[in-house]
Amino acid sequence: MNNKDFIFDGCNMTEIAAKYGTPLYVMSESSILKKCQEIKSDFLDKYPNTRAVFASKAFQTLEICRMVVQEGLGLDTVSGGEIYTAHKAGVPMEFLDFHGNNKTLEEIKMAVDYNVGRIVVDNLYELEALQEYAQKVNKKVKILFRITPGVDCHTHKFITTGQLDSKFGIPLENGILKDFIRRALDMENIELMGFHFHVGSQLATNESHLAALNIALDLMKDVKQTLGFETKELNIGGGFGIHYTGDDKTVKVSEFMDPIMNELYAKCDQYQLAVPQITIEPGRWIVGEAGVTLYTVGSIKEIPGIRKYIGVDGGMTDNIRPGLYGAKYQAVLANKMNQASKEKVTIAGKCCESTDILIYDMELPEVESGDTLAVFSTGAYCYSMSSNYNKIPRPAVVMVKDGKDRLIVKRETYEDMISREI
Ligand SMILES: Cc1ncc(COP(=O)(O)O)c(C=O)c1O
Repeated sequence: MNNKDFIFDGCNMTEIAAKYGTPLYVMSESSILKKCQEIKSDFLDKYPNTRAVFASKAFQTLEICRMVVQEGLGLDTVSGGEIYTAHKAGVPMEFLDFHGNNKTLEEIKMAVDYNVGRIVVDNLYELEALQEYAQKVNKKVKILFRITPGVDCHTHKFITTGQLDSKFGIPLENGILKDFIRRALDMENIELMGFHFHVGSQLATNESHLAALNIALDLMKDVKQTLGFETKELNIGGGFGIHYTGDDKTVKVSEFMDPIMNELYAKCDQYQLAVPQITIEPGRWIVGEAGVTLYTVGSIKEIPGIRKYIGVDGGMTDNIRPGLYGAKYQAVLANKMNQASKEKVTIAGKCCESTDILIYDMELPEVESGDTLAVFSTGAYCYSMSSNYNKIPRPAVVMVKDGKDRLIVKRETYEDMISREI
């Protein structure tokens, strides 16, 4: 058995890098399926009247849409493009939730025309536009209101969304939400099903979800008493944390969800509320750890006594997260797995931007030009946030499983990049 090369879902990453070129996103199908199966056994099958949707924004391609739907999940979408991709993948449109803090009129029409399952309404502008269009085409549209529970979760401030001062959601204060509910209940072409919240991302504990759940349950009790509205559905968002570096912990579905479901049942009983359907919408948790990005080492620059920069053939164009919010990653030399760490290096991307540093100060075996660097946990928010900055083509995506590899997204070409330019 070769102990020199990094083996990922049965595939040799040095050989995969040579076969497809670098930079390259590699996704482990076994890992994605395992996550979907944990959601099924520890949430969907365990609790009646529950749904799970994959947050497409984390990583959306035709193939991933087909895979997660096959595993019994729906899809959370946030744009016309994500709806279109799901549609092209053959996903039944009733499996879709459609989010967004500023859906365009075109997107609203598209969601209604495509019969998207749930539209998560964020503001009055959207509610009125929805009613107007649904009336025009004589349809009844199922909606949830996205609320801002005002919970401050302990994660990076750029990936926190549930606190009061947020561009997302409707504040509970000052009667704003109640006013929206009254209006929705009066609209002939709108069917209000319930509420949605999303407290933040990369959460190690369910503390914020529990706090937000309690706020939502108080709201449900209040609107039942004051407006006679019985909540049928509650979507508690995504945000389950994964392992990137150090002590990061991959959340277990049962540990995260059992206390939430227990609290839900107890409070519904206490408040005499019908238990609503509960939806979760994890993105990162399903695909994050399934992804590895492979790079080839090129330039090596040592500034004596200061720092050794290792230049790789990708960077912020395929992984903006370190530059955007200081995200941390771990990596190995995929062709030197049998060698001990020898030097402290900093991994630099190839873009014309000083923040284009993928990893600061990590230990690696002696690095040489031509080595293959594998960066872990890049399955979420890397491909989906990739760009053509510096006119760098986006990498290909290869799916691996039990020693087999298949291309699911072709590498972009120079010609692709100018194909829309006139
Ligand atoms: C509304 C909503 N749902 C789900 C998610 C998915 O979050 P995560 O990938 O952390 O599970 C997000 C992420 O921003 C979101 O805004």
